[in-house]
Amino acid sequence: MNLQGIQLTWLGHATFRVQTPEGKTLYIDPWIAGNPMCPESEKNVKKADALLCTHGHGDHIGDAVEVGKKCNPVAVGIYELCLWLQKKGVQQIAPMNKGGTQTVAGVKITMVHAVHSCGIQDGDQIIYGGEACGYVLEFSNGVKLYHAGDTNVFSDMAIIRDLYAPKIVMLPIGDHFTMSPREAAYACKLLQPETVIPMHFGTFPQLTGTPGELQKLAPNVKVLEMKPGKTIS
Ligand code: NI
Ligand code: MN
Repeated sequence: MNLQGIQLTWLGHATFRVQTPEGKTLYIDPWIAGNPMCPESEKNVKKADALLCTHGHGDHIGDAVEVGKKCNPVAVGIYELCLWLQKKGVQQIAPMNKGGTQTVAGVKITMVHAVHSCGIQDGDQIIYGGEACGYVLEFSNGVKLYHAGDTNVFSDMAIIRDLYAPKIVMLPIGDHFTMSPREAAYACKLLQPETVIPMHFGTFPQLTGTPGELQKLAPNVKVLEMKPGKTIS
């Protein structure tokens, strides 16, 4: 796998830090301080040009407000979630919805479907957060990544393949709250990526799926098991 100048770092769970070929820093699903998988060395975020949020659950936006206020990134998310972030003090928002594409920090960001819930826990309230989504990112060097967010497998993943053909996909495999390895293997059949990076597993005892199980069920795709804090480039 050649990322041609992109650096991709997994911070555990669904959280990734991405450095673009132009040196911009993106965080996908910024859950950092409370993320038990996130290495200590990553906990003090110093630079963020964009935050991409797939949905409003705490294990995906746990640090969006903190990082948003501290580093002044552009927060990308579904409409209702962005408005909530703005209300909490995030200055720059770039709301969008499924099927749309916008360029932020030099990256073409397409919001795609996901099948999952999306309430935002705000104190003792659950606020409507729009819908859960995934993202296809197209970088200036032509590399395309798909981060599925939290989802089960769904047949419209075939549309994501037909329209965007991402070669590298990040799929949840933990089971219980998202796809299991069995469903993720079916997702690989629909998406036909070259490389799949498993995520959203092992963080809590319920998230029992493993990369090894996925590799066994999807022998034709390369399952790239990252370690939290590890960077690939
Ligand atoms: Ni979730
Ligand atoms: Mn989750």
